[in-house]
Amino acid sequence: LRRGLLSTATRSPRLLSSTRLAPSLSQTYSAGMKILAVLYKGGEAAQQEPRLLGTIENQLGIRPWLESLGHEFIVTDDKEGSESVFQKNIVDAEVLITTPFHPAYVTKDIIDKAKNLKLCITAGVGSDHVDLNAAVEKRIQVLEVSGSNVVSVAEHVIMSILLLVRNFVPAHEMIERGDWQVSDVARNAYDLEGKVVGTIGAGRIGYRVLQRLVPFNCKELLYYDYAALPEEAAKAVNARRVEDLKDFVSQCDVVTVNCPLHEGTRGLVNAELLKHFKKGAWLVNTARGAICDKDAVAEAIKSGQLNGYAGDVWNVQPAPRDHVWRTMKNPLGGGNGMVPHYSGTTLDAQARYAAGTKSILENYLENKPQEPQNIIIGLSGYETKAYGQRK
Ligand code: NAI
Repeated sequence: LRRGLLSTATRSPRLLSSTRLAPSLSQTYSAGMKILAVLYKGGEAAQQEPRLLGTIENQLGIRPWLESLGHEFIVTDDKEGSESVFQKNIVDAEVLITTPFHPAYVTKDIIDKAKNLKLCITAGVGSDHVDLNAAVEKRIQVLEVSGSNVVSVAEHVIMSILLLVRNFVPAHEMIERGDWQVSDVARNAYDLEGKVVGTIGAGRIGYRVLQRLVPFNCKELLYYDYAALPEEAAKAVNARRVEDLKDFVSQCDVVTVNCPLHEGTRGLVNAELLKHFKKGAWLVNTARGAICDKDAVAEAIKSGQLNGYAGDVWNVQPAPRDHVWRTMKNPLGGGNGMVPHYSGTTLDAQARYAAGTKSILENYLENKPQEPQNIIIGLSGYETKAYGQRK
């Protein structure tokens, strides 16, 4: 049972729907098809560092291969508005590849325009940028490279928890400014030992976060998830499940969000729920920005209801320059651990999701069944249980 949670290659059995074990057959592809990739601009860094595979410059390393097969491969970072390269080419593309770091938003409108679209591949994990219900209706398959960056994110979560609890950012800023006033930072610095830490979502990432927290001797590890962990897996990290969300947050000193964004999690952490948090709790969200209400979080930081918020995901990406999460501060001038969306795109992760994207494409082109754990939407609908509870 634990193998599923621990292996990056397999989904835990409880996440498999019955149809998963017999994956949908892929559709027949057209010869000389148009494959469109929306990736992020890597600039000089990508020219100097070829391992930045998720960029428009390095193109997941698949251009020579696709062209040798006679396919047209269009790569762009230009994704907003009807005149964008993305929107112009989606009209007749058969396959769309995009990353969650610079996502092409595949709304219902776009799906209606995309008459030829058969397959959306997420180069990474998290396919909420696609209107999944609209994809089901149009029988567009949505696949992601499950497991490809879950360790990368879990490590970032542990780092973010520590930097908030230990008040790291203001301490470092003080040093850069040339100041030295220990009490100004120590007055809001704590140990993680003895705290209660809980994860919303205990799938691949959430479980890895729990595992990595074990040596810190927290007072208790909690999780909130409609799917219970296998008993053995829960026992291995000594995690207790709390079934009511308000009850759950009211017990945590630190809450970390590790569930996908879907109808049931959009705005889940809102002004009402934040009232139930312990005063001065810390919140870490590396799942998706829109799971937390932007203004409610900013207000909770300002008032001190939350002592800190950290993460790398934003409700819109790239985040506008004046996004309140860039600069929000708690009453003591700290509590902000925000960075651009990069936790799941370390160079190690990029190698894995580029290889996984190629393998999904290969299966599609050769009409082979896809790895069941990678299928979010198959030809007969949702093939995962992680994007909300459905019949
Ligand atoms: P997973 O599918 O292994 O686990 C997700 C878990 O969330 C499942 O156990 C599911 O039951 C649970 N869940 C779903 N809805 C829930 C709800 N309403 N309340 C509580 N739990 C709920 O997914 P994995 O690999 O752990 O990834 C989780 C998410 O993390 C992705 O969907 C993505 O949005 C995000 N992510 C972020 C990255 C980054 O770079 N910041 C990189 C990779 C993933």
